[in-house]
Amino acid sequence: MGAKGQLGLEWTKRLSRENLAFTATDYQELDISDTEAVALYLDEHKPDVVLNCAAYTNVDGAESDFKANNLLNHSAPAAIAELCDAKGIVFVHYSTDYVFSGNIEDKQAYPLGYPIDAPVNPVNKYGEAKLMGEQAIQQSGKNYLIIRIAWLCSAYGKNFMKTMIRFGSEKPKLTIVNDQFGSPTFTFDVVDATLRILQTPERGIFHVTTEGMYSWFDFANAIFNEAGIKVETEPVGSDAYPMVAKRPAYSKLDTSRFKEISGGVSYHMADGIKRVLSELNSSS
Ligand SMILES: NC(=O)c1ccc[n+]([C@@H]2O[C@H](COP(=O)([O-])OP(=O)(O)OC[C@H]3O[C@@H](n4cnc5c(N)ncnc54)[C@H](OP(=O)(O)O)[C@@H]3O)[C@@H](O)[C@H]2O)c1
Repeated sequence: MGAKGQLGLEWTKRLSRENLAFTATDYQELDISDTEAVALYLDEHKPDVVLNCAAYTNVDGAESDFKANNLLNHSAPAAIAELCDAKGIVFVHYSTDYVFSGNIEDKQAYPLGYPIDAPVNPVNKYGEAKLMGEQAIQQSGKNYLIIRIAWLCSAYGKNFMKTMIRFGSEKPKLTIVNDQFGSPTFTFDVVDATLRILQTPERGIFHVTTEGMYSWFDFANAIFNEAGIKVETEPVGSDAYPMVAKRPAYSKLDTSRFKEISGGVSYHMADGIKRVLSELNSSS
């Protein structure tokens, strides 16, 4: 579900390489908010696992488009989780670092990142709806994975990495926010981590991101260095870029549960940047 989004496209690419039967749907084939259509689809295709990559991801739009935000990030995944539970299907849902408050003080309180069970307190409407979606899925049963990710990047769609490559190639100088901290997550790492978790009996909530902690300024400079883009960069505070929706100042996620069950697998920003650049170069 949501097969034409960033993460959905990555899943389609990976599953096409694996010896696994799958069907990929987006809006046009299956509207996730049409519960009756989803139930019929599940009865027809009888999957073992449903991967929900569909969502309302316009964080600023969510501040006014309450209906779509709530429908796609809360009510629809809640209904699909119930259907999956009743039919013995594992429901995999992706959530976000934005379920946490992101107060800068939490950088000291949780230096390894927010643990899975840290208190939640979203600061924007997108985070609120994603949290309500999580809570409804948790109430639906036990056969689900909620994988929280952050700063998602890939060779597909729109994301920070692609925006920086474009701006860095077009402009002589960029000012980039240096007071929001977290870690990027790459779609291929999310797919890899999900497959690893699915091979275990573990269910529930997981955090998956790259190691380390960076500001957007750090992340952008790492992209420019790796891509060989010569652009002057200046660090600025978030107030230089007023946004409709409030953004968390600190949104690092503690990935230790995933590392424990995967035998210590970890993902790294430098590797992710290299791979996205190589995929972008081979597709251009
Ligand atoms: N992007 C990030 O930085 C980020 C960070 C943390 C967590 N996440 C989470 O990660 C997941 C994947 O994000 P993403 O960036 O891959 O999202 P995305 O690129 O926006 O993809 C979402 C896909 O869902 C589709 N969709 C929208 N409404 C639908 C409906 N009613 N029925 C079926 N499909 C529908 C979209 O189609 P249209 O494009 O036509 O609307 C789009 O193809 C989401 O759960 C998101 O909340 C993302």
